[in-house]
Amino acid sequence: MRPTSVGIDAMAFHGPECYVDMEDLAEARGVAPAKFTQGIGQRQMAVVTPCEDTVTMAAQAGRRALQAFDIDPDEIGTLIVGTETGVDHSKPVAVYVHELLGLPTSCRTFETKHACYGAMAGLTSAADWIQAGRARGRKALIIASDIARYGLGTPGEPTQGAGAVAMVVSPDPRLITFDPEIEGDYTRQVMDFWRPLYSKYAFADGHYSIDCYLDALESCWHDAVGKAGGSHEAFALSVLDACFYHVPFTRMAKKAHHRHWETELGRAIERDSEDGARVEDSYRQRVEPWLSLNADVGNIYTGSLFLCLIDYLRQATSEREGRPISLFSYGSGCGAALSIARVSEGAARFHRAIDPGGQLAARRRLNVEEYEEIFRACEESDRNDGERIDPARWGLTGGLHYVGTADHRRRYTK
Ligand code: CAA
Repeated sequence: MRPTSVGIDAMAFHGPECYVDMEDLAEARGVAPAKFTQGIGQRQMAVVTPCEDTVTMAAQAGRRALQAFDIDPDEIGTLIVGTETGVDHSKPVAVYVHELLGLPTSCRTFETKHACYGAMAGLTSAADWIQAGRARGRKALIIASDIARYGLGTPGEPTQGAGAVAMVVSPDPRLITFDPEIEGDYTRQVMDFWRPLYSKYAFADGHYSIDCYLDALESCWHDAVGKAGGSHEAFALSVLDACFYHVPFTRMAKKAHHRHWETELGRAIERDSEDGARVEDSYRQRVEPWLSLNADVGNIYTGSLFLCLIDYLRQATSEREGRPISLFSYGSGCGAALSIARVSEGAARFHRAIDPGGQLAARRRLNVEEYEEIFRACEESDRNDGERIDPARWGLTGGLHYVGTADHRRRYTK
């Protein structure tokens, strides 16, 4: 029998072990700290060392999701890693993760790429795999893992970050259940953000990328209304408990919520008007409370949207169960999707299992000099074949780390 419901059954975050404070960065760049902390909306920025990469973050997030929600690796029938930060032009991050997590050989495994939209594409493909009856009782593991890098001193620098979010998709999901009837999609070839094969750093037409994002949100909303038979009743802002948007920097979520309201009302809203005040109230109620993790981690591209969801679920109480939420994913280039889901009955029980607060509190604060040294060392991390990178050099002990290439093969500590 084909499953009638599908959604996210387990989630976990894993991020780098170091961070830089945004006020320190602003001071070093000669910028007013309020620009980074209020104008951009970031408090801290996760920084990867040369021994942390898309694979190590994905594998650790995946392991944590399976363990915290008591899922046997043998139950996984599909593994998808959504990433913009692949480690090889051919070999997917997912196949390293498959080995590191000890997943069965019968598990189909691949990588998806469409900038920050890659994991959402993986998630919906996994849901379709289950609803088509092809999973045969197995679950799918979707991992969003990325390192956002624009370069030292660039306008994009305060919007960097790194981290991975793992999600297990299954029928009878314990966290959120998707509404397959409501979905809006959008694709358009635009040059708002891209990263050529020869570059470790992203190129962005920053202000244009914000416009492309907001236009994509509006288009997805209209597409969803069309697919829902011309009505937005089931996903009107007044009925939604929370709205999650892709968060390249937290201030973007505020811009997105404003456009969401304008789209629903069908007209522009002045910030100083009565409607503007309603939007502000709605933002404080439906968006802002779940931006705290993003403010302390930075942009994690594919995982940013889902990091807000983790923030929401770690604060969930039983009153939220059954309530509808919206998820908007935007990937530059561009591809986007708007989905609606409901908080599953009993989801609030998992608020501790899902909370990465302890992990973030244990991170090491870097000064800007250390951050710049690490940043430059990452440039070389896969250029000197045969040279072992020592995790202890970067203050890392235990755990899973990348230690350089030998004979052009990536090596990881187990
Ligand atoms: N106090 C308070 N606020 C201040 C301030 C101060 N002293 N100085 C400036 N600000 C405010 C500005 O008014 C502005 O706010 P509004 O947008 O509300 O007007 C905000 O701080 C940012 O200032 P600028 O626009 O002048 O900043 P910038 O030109 O240096 O760059 C950026 C901002 C374009 C976002 C840049 O960081 C960038 O290019 N980032 C990478 C691209 C990106 O993240 N795009 C997002 C959409 S695309 C996407 O989402 C996909 C993805 O993940 C990349």
